[in-house]
Amino acid sequence: MAQLYLGLMSGTSLDGVDAVLADLDRGQTVILAAAHVDFGADLRNELAALTCSGSNEIDRASTLGNRLASIYAEASMRALSDAGRTAADVRAIGCHGQTVRHRPERGYTVQIGNAALLAELTGITVVADFRSRDIAAGGQGAPLVPAFHARAFADANEERAILNLGGIANLTVLRRGSSPLGFDTGPGNCLMDHWAQRHLGRPYDDNGAWAADGTVDAALLERMLDEVYFRAEPPKSTGRELFNPAWLDGLLHPGANPRDVQATLLELTAVSAARAIRDHAGGTRRVIACGGGTRNTALMRGLERRLAPWPVESSDCHGVPAQLVEAAAFAWLAQQALEGRGGNLPSVTGAKGSRILGAIHHGAG
Ligand SMILES: Nc1ncnc2c1ncn2[C@@H]1O[C@H](COP(=O)(O)OP(=O)(O)O)[C@@H](O)[C@H]1O
Ligand SMILES: [Mg+2]
Repeated sequence: MAQLYLGLMSGTSLDGVDAVLADLDRGQTVILAAAHVDFGADLRNELAALTCSGSNEIDRASTLGNRLASIYAEASMRALSDAGRTAADVRAIGCHGQTVRHRPERGYTVQIGNAALLAELTGITVVADFRSRDIAAGGQGAPLVPAFHARAFADANEERAILNLGGIANLTVLRRGSSPLGFDTGPGNCLMDHWAQRHLGRPYDDNGAWAADGTVDAALLERMLDEVYFRAEPPKSTGRELFNPAWLDGLLHPGANPRDVQATLLELTAVSAARAIRDHAGGTRRVIACGGGTRNTALMRGLERRLAPWPVESSDCHGVPAQLVEAAAFAWLAQQALEGRGGNLPSVTGAKGSRILGAIHHGAG
């Protein structure tokens, strides 16, 4: 019998929401349909503003949470109608929500998106707030995708590294004979996106073409790599609280050439991720990349250069399209929650133990 779940992921890039309808019966991940709803510039700006301290935060967060629920419902319904299915066919939606604050060191993380309203709008059971329980158990609450990476991409014959190039980049090391390792390596697309918006008026640098035309500023790169986060040992996770425009502005010299800064930001993502793989995945023979950053050709070439002779392949070649891996992971996390199974990996997050993740908002009927 099919076990249909919807997964919804809207990540730190603030680009929009990815929805996936997947059949998760018997250990498989069969993607039946997918949809993407873009946030647009206004919503993106309002969400970005909410990731830093400001006035009237509770009202702004709650109002934006309601808007997100409508967008999440739209994405869910689009995926369903693409597959010729209805809400009644789906066991649950796994909804990550939109992170506006991630502070595991202070014991909390906040993802907005009004899961109760999403359950009302769709009539489908919604599982949300996956990260809080892991943090309550002493973990980082992130990354949560490594357990799904293990299910989708593990190979008994070789160690593999999975690199998710979202707004923040995260790494999973699928080791042979021991549980996976995983952590955020640092910025993925978020700083490059910010810089492209500021100087080109575009949400991202298409294919990394602008960066590829620039020259890496070695001194600036060194100042960036001096950030203590890069040297900290895992478990560790990060977000826009650290890698944000103020962090970048604090390191720039006046008169820096914008194109060279973009080239340097691309280099920062590639070098920090490649170093993390070399330092923590020495036995790796293959790097599988996913997330929107895989569409940044210059970034992928940069990673390949730094990681040769190991191949860097898109997850497209390994059964799950690169843009859908995280959404599929949250569909699977919803299934884990409904079936009373753990979703976190203590070896990754540092939590005291495995925990059933998420709060459940029951659907109609
Ligand atoms: N054609 C492209 N060229 C360069 N970058 C791209 C392209 N398409 C998508 N991206 C990048 O991917 C990001 C979205 O990736 P995504 O995996 O959804 O991240 P997140 O999980 O943080 O939302 C965009 O913000 C952009 O930086
Ligand atoms: Mg996204």
